[in-house]
Order: sequence, then C-alpha cells, then structure tokens
Amino acid sequence: MGKAQVLECRECGKEYDPTFRYICEECFGPLEVKYDLASIKVNKETFASRPKSLWRYFELLPLDAKSRIVDLGAGYTPLHRAERLAKKLGLKNLYIKNDTVNPTFSFKDRPASVAVSKALGLGLSAVGSPSTGNLAAATAAHAARAGLPCYIFIPWDIEPTKIVQAAAYGAEIVAIKGTYDDANKLATQAGEIYNIGVVNVNLRPYYVEGSKTLGFEVCEQLGWEAPDHVIVPTGSGALLCAVGRGFDQLEDVGLIRENNVKITSAQPYGCSPIVDAIKKSTDVIDPVEKPNTIAKSLAIGEPGDGIYAARTVMETKGFGENCTDGEIVDAIKLLASTEGIFTEPAGAVTIAVLKKLVAEGKIDADETIVCYVTGNGLKTPEVVSAPTSKPVAIDPKLEVLAQIIRR
Ligand SMILES: Cc1ncc(COP(=O)(O)O)c(C=O)c1O
Ligand SMILES: [Zn+2]
Repeated sequence: MGKAQVLECRECGKEYDPTFRYICEECFGPLEVKYDLASIKVNKETFASRPKSLWRYFELLPLDAKSRIVDLGAGYTPLHRAERLAKKLGLKNLYIKNDTVNPTFSFKDRPASVAVSKALGLGLSAVGSPSTGNLAAATAAHAARAGLPCYIFIPWDIEPTKIVQAAAYGAEIVAIKGTYDDANKLATQAGEIYNIGVVNVNLRPYYVEGSKTLGFEVCEQLGWEAPDHVIVPTGSGALLCAVGRGFDQLEDVGLIRENNVKITSAQPYGCSPIVDAIKKSTDVIDPVEKPNTIAKSLAIGEPGDGIYAARTVMETKGFGENCTDGEIVDAIKLLASTEGIFTEPAGAVTIAVLKKLVAEGKIDADETIVCYVTGNGLKTPEVVSAPTSKPVAIDPKLEVLAQIIRR
C-alpha cells in the first residue's frame, strides 16, 4: 500500500509506532496519524471505481489490511444542492452534506467504523465510548458487526430515542448522573483499567480520521474542487479539525488544485466555548460547566479539540457563530420544508448560523457553501413534535376535506 504511517505528537512532534496509544509520553500532547503523503499514489479514477462508502479512500485511512474493515456502508452520503433554501436566503450555490442517512443516522458512523476496525486490528477484546448520543449508536452497531462487546457511557438525560437505539444493538448502557464530561472521565478510566478500546479516547488518533472523509467526499462530489466555505456543527471540535485536515490532505496528494476553504464553527448558545473563544480571537477555551441546549449532541463543556478547532477556524478565516434553541427549531423546520431533509438540532445549528452570517453580510451570494447536516431528525422527534404531533382528525367525508383544502 505504501502509506507508511506513524503517530505524531501534535505538540512536540515526537513520533511513535501506530499502536494502542493516544498521548505523548514526553509532553502529554495528543497523537495524530501522519501519512507519508508523497508515497501515496492515488488518482480520481481509483476512487471513483470503488463502492460508495468512506472506505473508498482506503489509502488515506489508518488501516493496513482491508480484511479488518468493519463496514456497515457509512459515508458517500448525498451532497444535496439546496436550491429552494438558497433562494430564500439570497444565495446561489448552497449545498447540504446530508449525513443524516448513514447506517445509524449520523456522521458518527464514519469515525466509529474506522476506530472499531482498528480495535480489531489491535486485537482488543471490547470497545466502548462516552457519547452525547450519536456515537453511542454508531459504536454499538459497529461493535455488533465486529462481534465485540460494547460499553456506552452517556449522560442520563440525553434523548430517549438515542438510548433505545444504542441498546438495541446489544451494547451495555451506562447512564451517568452527570454531564458528558463526567461520562468521558469515567469511560477514560474504564478504558485504562479494563483495556477497552474507547473509540473517542484511547483510539482517538484513528477515530478522528474517519470524519476526514467528510472533507474528501464534498470535494469529489463537487468534481474535485474544494468549496469556498463550510459550516460545521461543533461539540468537541474533532469533526471540524478532521474536515480541515481532509481538505489539506487532498491538496497535498494533488487531487484538488487549491484549498482556500473557510471553515466556520457553529454552536448553540447554551454550550459554545469554542465559538466564544473565536469571537474573542483567542484559542483559550473557557469550559462551560453546565451546558444547557436542545442540541444535546453538541453539549460538550470541555471540548477535547477546542484549541485546535478555534485555531483552524481563525487560520482559514472562517467565523464562530452561535444560535438560540428557538433559532434551532426554526432552522429544523426551514430545512425540512424547503429541502426535504429532517435533521436533529445539531445539524440545524449550521442552518441557523448560515442565516445569521447572511444577515450580517458575512457571506458573499456567489460563494459555494456547504452546511454539514450530521444527524437525523427522527432521533429527536420531541423537539418539533409539540405543535404538529396530533393532526386534527376528520370524518372520512369529502365535504369535510373540502374545508381543509380550501383553507
Ligand atoms: C450530530 C452531531 N453533529 C456534530 C457533532 C459534533 O462533533 P464533534 O464533537 O466532533 O465536534 C456531534 C457530536 O456528537 C453530533 O452528534
Ligand atoms: Zn509531545
């Protein structure tokens, strides 16, 4: 394959073999996968001829053997040209990357597929994850496919549908009386003590690589051109950094001409430590002790990749913007009613933020913009169900129907 990989410390640059480790022994910095990009020989035709999943980019993913891949078909989701929504907002080239249609209905299938595959390759006998909801189902489903036991750590108050979904795949669900950050700490300790592959903690260097494919696919779907501007829903910041790395790597291997993508971070007001930092032009993240938002997937008060996400946004000349819960609900309905895409609150945060940026004159009408819509609305029906859940029932008679149709 010729893709000699190492793990490299993001802080001091020390290199390690790509084994089961995630923190630098010298400086405690996070490790990331480094590829010898110059030796990777790939072309557009190779990728185009392969199945429509994230694994079509195998050479740019951190696995040595295709036999270890745990694949439920995540990735290569539609890049939807949003003409009606664009018109409403006065834009010309707006796209939705519709990751609501992944196997477990969120983008988390991408990193979960890579991390659980790596866990098999490393010979681990169990996997798990702390989760704000979507990673729970994604890890559990891929663990089921791999035949590995799975332990999920969630804050006790996440959406019921997400708990039901993860449990259905046979995972052991550990509900924590506390926040996501509490669940994260316990999962981290469990990983160390019981040698569990915790996909977004001790397998994090591999895990984050899966989300890079959201950058690759958008370029491939735009005819191997990078967009001008992307808007990314942000919790820990891992997704945003991965998308940025995806654009950089495609440029490095020569598959796109140039990468001047502006990367914008979108967060809810009730938990926006990364956006708050960007608004102050700093990468110092002030943790949010008690997140409070209907976008529960994004309720991460101490974002693990916050510093790096803030830097990526500022370096690419994107924006940090946040929105209220009311604006999120409006955006869910706007996207569903103009484009036929039903998202959970986290995905709608990008649409609410797009509206704001347009209103503030920060977006040029001609820009090619991609909003990443990362989770399915059926996971959180309660946020929109109140006014619409009970339609008015009528007698099955034409004269009654006529009153409704004439209205
Ligand atoms: C639907 C959805 N969108 C976006 C995110 C944010 O991803 P990250 O935590 O990597 O920033 C999450 C995280 O759980 C999510 O579930
Ligand atoms: Zn280091």
